[in-house]
Amino acid sequence: MSEQSWVAVDEFVTRLVVGEDEALRAAVSESARAGLPQIAVSPPQGKLLHLLARVHGARRILELGTLGGYSTIWLARALPAEGRLVTLELKPQFAEIARANLERAGVAALVEQRVGPALDSLRALREEGGAPFDLVFIDADKAKTPEYFSEALELTRARGLVIVDNVVRDGELARRNTDDAGARGMRRLHKLLAAGGPWSATTIQTVGVKGYDGFTLVLLD
Ligand code: SAH
Ligand code: DHB
Ligand code: MG
Repeated sequence: MSEQSWVAVDEFVTRLVVGEDEALRAAVSESARAGLPQIAVSPPQGKLLHLLARVHGARRILELGTLGGYSTIWLARALPAEGRLVTLELKPQFAEIARANLERAGVAALVEQRVGPALDSLRALREEGGAPFDLVFIDADKAKTPEYFSEALELTRARGLVIVDNVVRDGELARRNTDDAGARGMRRLHKLLAAGGPWSATTIQTVGVKGYDGFTLVLLD
């Protein structure tokens, strides 16, 4: 098994079953053209997020880390017509590119973008006391993931689903002395999950065009 075959399989799967349309492809190409880092979820991963949101019947979704809106589009397209997705992004320039991509994909009316540090936006959401979210996708500053998770818990309904991206990080997750700050964040997340709480969780390793990484899924009680 090689990284070359991971890429070939992702391309095969994307071509045959993922159903990436022109607006999703444009979100990737326009984000690259604007100089955004090319770190969005892969097409098969985006479709996985979409399918999980549909299986879960999500009507309100919270996303941390918009980038150019690629995962946002996949998640928003799982919503019913009256659904809502709130997406948090630190960088105004990224949020602006994402806006155009969301409009092109026909989901802009369902999506509320908030710009600034995610922890500030999460606290503001808590103070506003809106309806709880059904699904949370955490994909922002990896080192802060445990804090994001704790805040997200306060904003999520019973039986809500929390999905965390980039938890395995080339296997650094299992290295006690890793110097990868993101991996240290993901190790802390796992310790927090292990400490127990009203949830049931697992972590799934993935390979593909984004290399070797993985997702954590947490279903709240
Ligand atoms: N979810 C996107 C990828 C997100 S990449 C997709 O798969 O398509 C991570 C994003 O988190 C970047 O856009 C980065 O600017 C943003 N980010 C980093 N630190 C942040 C913070 N403190 N608050 C909010 N967003 C942050
Ligand atoms: C990075 C961030 C991501 O969300 C991702 O999926 C891959 C890489 C990063 O910050 O390098
Ligand atoms: Mg990610």
